[in-house]
Amino acid sequence: MNFQFTEEQLMIQQAARDFAQNELLPGVIERDEHQKFPAEQIKKMGELGFMGIMVDPKYGGAGMDAVSYVLAMEEISKVDASASVCMSVNNSLVCWGLEEYGNEEQKQKYLVPMASGEVFGAFLLSEPEAGSDATSQRTTAVDMGDHYVLNGIKNWITNGSTATHYLVIAQTDVEKKHKGINAFIVEKAWAGVSVGAKENKMGIRGSDTHSISFQDVKVPKENRIGEDGFGFTFAMKVLSGGRIGIAAQALGIASGAYELALKYSKQRKAFGTEIMNHQAIQFKLADMATQVETARLLCLKAAWLKDQHQNYDVASAMAKLYASEIAQSVTTEAVQIHGGYGYVKEFHVERLMRDAKITQIYEGTSEVQRIVISRSVLK
Ligand code: CAA
Repeated sequence: MNFQFTEEQLMIQQAARDFAQNELLPGVIERDEHQKFPAEQIKKMGELGFMGIMVDPKYGGAGMDAVSYVLAMEEISKVDASASVCMSVNNSLVCWGLEEYGNEEQKQKYLVPMASGEVFGAFLLSEPEAGSDATSQRTTAVDMGDHYVLNGIKNWITNGSTATHYLVIAQTDVEKKHKGINAFIVEKAWAGVSVGAKENKMGIRGSDTHSISFQDVKVPKENRIGEDGFGFTFAMKVLSGGRIGIAAQALGIASGAYELALKYSKQRKAFGTEIMNHQAIQFKLADMATQVETARLLCLKAAWLKDQHQNYDVASAMAKLYASEIAQSVTTEAVQIHGGYGYVKEFHVERLMRDAKITQIYEGTSEVQRIVISRSVLK
């Protein structure tokens, strides 16, 4: 077992850390307050290769491994989880899905611009009545011979209005249940695609979350991903990798809050000494450090398994479950250590506390992760 990062991995970690501090930190409070999407910053992230980290350079990506992806996601998420969710969805759900399961024409036409950061994508699975219960898709794609006709509504879509391309999961044959589901590449600009109002969220307020509706949208047959009926397996496969990204996001939110609390405890004085000298604070910091490190190890293990082409379904579910749970406790303790200052925006920890909550909900709730894990341990 080797816990040493390679030079390349350390380089990407440093690049992400510098980018987060220099480009994301200024303005992050205002973007959160005014729900402003970090458009300029995402463009720069694309130029630096962060939007297609794991994609082969022949398709416009940076050609790095999943471990590097976790390292970069942690650094970006320490500062701006709204930027990191955009990065995670594009990398894990959109680019990886296309690279792994798309055909050569689809890769040339759609993966190259999305992996190179020219444009980015969104993943459309959730519906008003199909969240955790992902097999209950109501969006339909009727087979018309040379094309499909798409109708329905998707909810809670990250990058909803800023993405140019959508990977849409829809039901083609209800009789076949999940085996009648397909995945399609849909261009936002096509007739019949409408973007709904932006959601006014508790956290990750800079990210761009919308419902998207489809009314008689004509989707060419060549835009279906994989064989007929492959859509549900496709969704499960990409979500497994996506959970590594969101686990790393939760880790970053937790480690960002922990680092701020550590720094504050060395500066703030109470009862005649820096608060770090009080055991009440020391014990909190010890627990936070242990939880962050455990989450980091789970994220890296899942990423390492992916890099070794081994099954990572359970490892990614465990990483996401644990990292998102400790993101709650670590950010809450960070606010507590800051006292009254923690409750105001300038000190960043209240935002991290709000941002942490979504990591227990999207890309499978904590309950969904427990289903995946318990089915494996009980089998
Ligand atoms: N790989 C391959 N196949 C898989 C799989 C995997 N990881 N997981 C399940 N499958 C297959 C099963 O083998 C089964 O196939 P067969 O019938 O041929 O054996 C089929 O899929 C159905 O599986 P289940 O019976 O396990 O399905 P289920 O209805 O019990 O649901 C679930 C399982 C884990 C709860 C699943 O529905 C799930 O993951 N739900 C959560 C969905 C989710 O994460 N939504 C997030 C939306 S995307 C998002 O949030 C993005 C964003 O914007 C940030």
